[in-house]
Amino acid sequence: MKKLFAALALMLATYGTGECKDYTISTPGSTLVLTAEVGKPLYFRYYGTRASLDDVFASHRAIKAQAFRAFGTHCDLSHACFIKHADGDNATNLVVDYVEQTEDAQMTRLTIVLKDTAHPFVLRLHYDAYKDCDVMKFWAEYTNNGKKPISLQKYMSAALPVKSQECVLLHLDGDHGNECNETIEPLADGIKILSTQDGSRPSAHNQAAFMLGTDGKLDETDGNVIAGTLAWTGNFHIEFEKNRIKGQPTMIYAGINPVGADYTLAPKQTLSTPEMVFAYSTRGKGEATRTLHYWARHHQVLDGTKEREVLLNSWEGVHMNVTQEGMNSMMKDFARLGGEMFVMDDGWFGDKYPRDTDKTSLGDWCVAKGKLPEGIEGLIRIAKDNNLKFGIWIEPEMVNTKSELYEKHPDWVLRHEAFEPTYGRGKTQLLLDLTNPKVQDFVVGVVDNLMTANPEIAYIKWDHNMSILNASSPYLPKALQSNLYVEYNRSLLSILERVRAKYPSLIIQLCSAGGFRLNYGFMPYFQEVWGSDQTDARHRIYIQWGALDFYPANIIAAHVCSTKNKYTQRVVPVKFRFDVASMCRLGMEMVPAELTDAEQAYAKRAIAEYKRLRPVIQQGDLYKLVSPYDGDREYASLMYVNDKKDHAVAMFYRMTFTRHMPDKIIKLQGLDPDRQYLIREVAPEVEGKPIHISGKKVSGRFLMEEGIVIRELTADRSSRKPFNDIRDMNDYRSYMVELIAQ
Ligand code: GLA
Repeated sequence: MKKLFAALALMLATYGTGECKDYTISTPGSTLVLTAEVGKPLYFRYYGTRASLDDVFASHRAIKAQAFRAFGTHCDLSHACFIKHADGDNATNLVVDYVEQTEDAQMTRLTIVLKDTAHPFVLRLHYDAYKDCDVMKFWAEYTNNGKKPISLQKYMSAALPVKSQECVLLHLDGDHGNECNETIEPLADGIKILSTQDGSRPSAHNQAAFMLGTDGKLDETDGNVIAGTLAWTGNFHIEFEKNRIKGQPTMIYAGINPVGADYTLAPKQTLSTPEMVFAYSTRGKGEATRTLHYWARHHQVLDGTKEREVLLNSWEGVHMNVTQEGMNSMMKDFARLGGEMFVMDDGWFGDKYPRDTDKTSLGDWCVAKGKLPEGIEGLIRIAKDNNLKFGIWIEPEMVNTKSELYEKHPDWVLRHEAFEPTYGRGKTQLLLDLTNPKVQDFVVGVVDNLMTANPEIAYIKWDHNMSILNASSPYLPKALQSNLYVEYNRSLLSILERVRAKYPSLIIQLCSAGGFRLNYGFMPYFQEVWGSDQTDARHRIYIQWGALDFYPANIIAAHVCSTKNKYTQRVVPVKFRFDVASMCRLGMEMVPAELTDAEQAYAKRAIAEYKRLRPVIQQGDLYKLVSPYDGDREYASLMYVNDKKDHAVAMFYRMTFTRHMPDKIIKLQGLDPDRQYLIREVAPEVEGKPIHISGKKVSGRFLMEEGIVIRELTADRSSRKPFNDIRDMNDYRSYMVELIAQ
């Protein structure tokens, strides 16, 4: 991206004229205004709906606030940067040096170069505005122009003043198997921080993403909303500072989390920060979501507009009990259901120490011959015989102390040399020191060796099940230890660059104990992310609901679990499980032969329908209709609409049954009000017996203004003889309908 600019740049520069100028950049629907005068601080004036300068300066949203406060002035408030200079001074006074505006086919970039009046320190602030969607990216470059190292104590990517004291904040929090829980709360006075300190898994607890309603509410379809997400693979820090002093904006600061990570910048060195991505919506958070999804698919996610295949992953089916026979029969059975890809998960590797438990073998990426006598070749042969593609699991940044790799290279791990490290999973897992170039070559080699030996591998699941528990690098000099949190992640990104240079179209799924690495910083290198180790369909509704706020359906892997969920032991009808997984990239995670014949027949129908409808689900616009958090948490509903608005898929879920439930009226969104739509149930649970509304034709206007009632959704089925092959539980009902414009 940055190279593109160099090639296509049209430069409009303002050098040292002393004139005060308002700089505007706009997307189709949003505008940012900054005021720059050489020798003076940079002022932020406006970010909001697309506006002329006349509109801006007449409006209540206009403001004059320092655009990027450095510690040194206004020391009573929060700051975007805090620099310890070579002479020990910790005050910085940034003024405008010059301004550049460049442009390419994709975006306009405004760059403001600031210099410190007291030290040889330069800060470049970049503001990028896309031409095809309402997304802007803010990022910065910190340069030490002196002769001695300086220390960056806080070095944000972005500062954004918001002219509102009535903000409502949405953020996502969670844990293993419980990711992306949505919290919506008024932004209170004081400082609120979303952050992680995990080291290498940015979304281990909080997502680096938020929505901010700036009109005193955060509604799905109404009101002004700023959505933000930091594209960074490591620790992040997103800070909201609100105080009630009249005229003071609410401040947003976003960037790398500086805790334990003050960055030593050598003379003449520049640190580029990750990009902070903002989307602006004047029509509620739903529009902000759709804008981010569009941006992600078209500009950030690898192969973002390509179709994703339906796969079976072996993990929940057999865990580490991988055998040739077991894999072969899973492949055959899945192929019969219409599957397209088979992924062999953990448990296939380790020669001296075969991987039977999580205590051994990470690092030894060769086949466990006892388990797979015919090797990966044998498996690929069976996959091909069954018309399936083949994929494989690796966790290449890790090692177990019981492994040949650790025996050979005990100095390749992150740990302090003077004391016992903290171990991760299996009490023997350690993280490789990616800052060491030899380790980088090794990790690139894990993929390269596998692919060279088995060029027909079509998919890799790249897992990462441990935090940086020992933040000491044997490779980095002592004086640079606090650079580790940044350097680990920069090294990882350079490894990913190398892998992608050689294998640009290999599908690589990002996984980290489920969804702990769900972050846009990874997505130029990965096609999809494993949403969560939680496969219980009830919990998955919440996890996917939250993830979909920021990430598009085609990058979230969602798998149908076995009839009794491995973790929660909950039994949910197979239809409900398929309908929940069909919200995102559908897959299965079980031994298919454990399904009854009727369930297998259903699975076959559901997979065929998903394949037919996936252009709409994976690429369509998402409209959220009923939040699973609403009311008594009985329902959830959402829909996808293609860009021509002639094909849509709506999904309805009921999670709790009570007697005599009233009809649930659900208003659809995103349709063309002037067209008639044929409603057709997708994969009815009993073939040939669709719900009552299937086959009816209704106008888009009626569906959006009066809504739809699926009577079967509230029906009491307890007195009905259960159709027990489909496990007809009374709590869990779900329906999918497609809407076809006539
Ligand atoms: C993690 C992943 C799972 C599975 C296991 C294998 O927990 O999230 O999907 O791959 O590791 O050990």
